[in-house]
Amino acid sequence: MKYGSLFSLILLLFGAGQFGPACADNPLQAAMELEGALLLTPDIENGKRVYRTCAVCHQPEAWGTENGHYPQIAGQIRTVIIKQLADIRARNRDNPTMLPFTRLDMLTLQEIADVSAYISEMPMTRHNGIGPGSDLVHGRKIYEEYCAECHGPRAEGIVDDHIPLLQGQHYQYLYRQFLWIRDGRRRNADKKMAKQIQSFNIRDISSVMDYISRLKPPAEKLAPADWRNPDFPNYRRDGKRRP
Ligand code: HEC
Ligand code: HEC
Repeated sequence: MKYGSLFSLILLLFGAGQFGPACADNPLQAAMELEGALLLTPDIENGKRVYRTCAVCHQPEAWGTENGHYPQIAGQIRTVIIKQLADIRARNRDNPTMLPFTRLDMLTLQEIADVSAYISEMPMTRHNGIGPGSDLVHGRKIYEEYCAECHGPRAEGIVDDHIPLLQGQHYQYLYRQFLWIRDGRRRNADKKMAKQIQSFNIRDISSVMDYISRLKPPAEKLAPADWRNPDFPNYRRDGKRRP
């Protein structure tokens, strides 16, 4: 039996009854899914197919919105995408909009592996939302003192520890997620980070987010100007469905 199906079986046994509306958060389920999906070899072609569902909200380019309602997920580290999907469906992270699309019967572990690989290789936008730019010296100081050891000197993240890439992310999205980690709304977040940031004041938070939002991804990760995802040639961007 392949590891993937073994894990799915364990999950089914373990997770029986866990997916109903009243289900509580389940870190064990998420940890097993993360380990399980990491063992699978991703099929990028299939990832493209799975991404059609995601594109309804995340758009073909996966760049998110400058107001931070949607995150940029293009170019995010594969292991991070897998962990977030596992956390969302185990309800360790509240995301009521997306939850129905992550249910076990909507998305298998193999599909999680495939779509995560596809998204992580997508080029990133050059125009992410940034902060006011008024306190960047303080923001940099905070970043280097408290964040760089985990997120990396340019907020590029770490694959093996599923630490998110933050460079190029929308300012307001970073801000909101930071508060959610601080306040425990992301219940499977890094405990050391959550503890460390409790004493941050508003100035610390907004300036460090501003600094991070201005850290540009390296040129090879950025999309050319006006790039449109060629995998979605017929996608209508005016919100109307195709006949
Ligand atoms: C109905 C709309 C919707 C659909 C469909 C959807 N998402 Fe999302 N997704 C969201 C929203 C909204 C957020 C941000 C939620 C928040 O603020 O925490 C999000 C967040 C995420 C994140 C977390 C990013 C981060 O850095 O924190 C990932 C990863 C993600 N989506 C991947 C996917 C994938 C893969 C699919 C398809 C299988 C998908 N989404 C389908 C709405 C959607
Ligand atoms: C001990 C390691 C560690 C430190 C220190 C740390 N982080 Fe994190 N951070 C993480 C991990 C791991 C995650 C992913 C949590 C999860 O899986 O939900 C994360 C997630 C985040 C996110 C959410 C990103 C997303 O796309 O969802 C933001 C924003 C963030 N960190 C900002 C910061 C800032 C700013 C600092 C410094 C003040 C910092 N972190 C310090 C480990 C750390």
